[in-house]
Amino acid sequence: MRTQVAIVGAGPAGLLLSHLLHLRGIESVVLEARSREYVEHRVRAGVLEQGTVDTLVESGAGERLLREGLVHHGIELRFGGQRHRIAFEKLVPGRAITVYGQQEVVKDLIAARLAAGGQILFEVDDVVPEEIEGPRPQVSFTHRSQPLALQADFIAGCDGFHGVCRDAIPPGVLQFFDKEYPFGWLGALAAVAPSSDELIYASNDRGFALHSMRSPQLSRFYLQVAPDEDIEAWPDERIWAELAARLETVPGWNLATGPVVEKGITAMRSFVAEPMQFGRLFLAGDAAHIVPPTGAKGLNLAAFDVTVLTEAFAAWYSSGDAALLDGYSRACLRRVWRAQHFSWWMTTLLHSFDSYDAYDRRLQQSYRDYVCTSEAASTSLAENYVGLGRR
Ligand code: FAD
Ligand code: PHB
Repeated sequence: MRTQVAIVGAGPAGLLLSHLLHLRGIESVVLEARSREYVEHRVRAGVLEQGTVDTLVESGAGERLLREGLVHHGIELRFGGQRHRIAFEKLVPGRAITVYGQQEVVKDLIAARLAAGGQILFEVDDVVPEEIEGPRPQVSFTHRSQPLALQADFIAGCDGFHGVCRDAIPPGVLQFFDKEYPFGWLGALAAVAPSSDELIYASNDRGFALHSMRSPQLSRFYLQVAPDEDIEAWPDERIWAELAARLETVPGWNLATGPVVEKGITAMRSFVAEPMQFGRLFLAGDAAHIVPPTGAKGLNLAAFDVTVLTEAFAAWYSSGDAALLDGYSRACLRRVWRAQHFSWWMTTLLHSFDSYDAYDRRLQQSYRDYVCTSEAASTSLAENYVGLGRR
């Protein structure tokens, strides 16, 4: 098998890259370890920045997103028994976010690729990027028990944090930056109308809770829990009781409950691998960097990486100019680090830390008060949350 760009991973990064390359007349093949059914139903992110929405719409894959996505012009912070709205329309005029499930983005992109005759091989095993230092890299893999090799000009490692591409880069090349948090998030999807028109980021002495949504009939919730928490210890009644204890903290506000249709626990960490490239292998999305989900940035960073990578491949194929490819990592890392800082900052602002002493707690309280009372501080939160410009 031969193609121009071999893409490992059919998450948002790999699929969007394949779609954008196709629009530039560049061929690719996507290799994915899981089944189509699995990747289309994996519940994860929900918040799209304007730049991500624009990329999807301009690429022709945003029709359903425009129809079904929920455009939000603010978020609510809730702590100390008070609610504070971060009003995007006032603080960052003309900019908003769109709530639309990651698995819906994945479905739309798979449909677009298949409609255009694109090749996505699901349920491949034993994926190994090879010869990445020379001009003829390839990916060996197994499909339906058959050992195969995909030859290409380039390999795009879009295989997420636990993928194999990052590890294919020789030891000593990459520098890693890593931070683990002493908690995880329990996520729950529930068949109940959202109790709020906008997302609520809440915190009290029991910990952090987030009320998000997917549609007028589906709500999405997150709870700060211990990092090694067992989901079996969280029957639905306990989830609802804890959400109520952390969210029903302002007068007259009640949480509507309903059947939980999906739940799981995710660890929280920050991670960056630099540089995001070696030889003919380019890393994009979670394969190169992850953030705790508090800032809602992971999917948006993945989308940004692949728009930069598309431009770089397009320049190389049209004129042989490698300058953009050589500068790929540098072009992405500036935005990556802004998102790293913002995600760490939101996480620190909103979670309970067992390690905090009385002094640390006062500092946190003071910063929360500052964000709620200073227009400069709220504007900083707002501009990072909706996403900085595309470049
Ligand atoms: P992934 O989505 O991880 O895709 C990688 C793909 O590669 C997967 O399909 C995987 O099966 C495949 N793969 C892995 N190994 C191999 C292999 N060896 N061979 C072949 N295929 C392989 N981000 C936001 O922007 N906003 C949010 O609101 C938000 N909320 C989140 C909430 C939660 C609970 C979680 C867990 C994450 C959240 N994120 C959010 C982060 C976001 O989901 C990720 O950043 C995003 O999925 C990254 O996309 P990706 O394509 O880089 O990686
Ligand atoms: C989500 O709806 O899944 C979501 C929203 C905001 C976040 C993280 C996740 O910060």
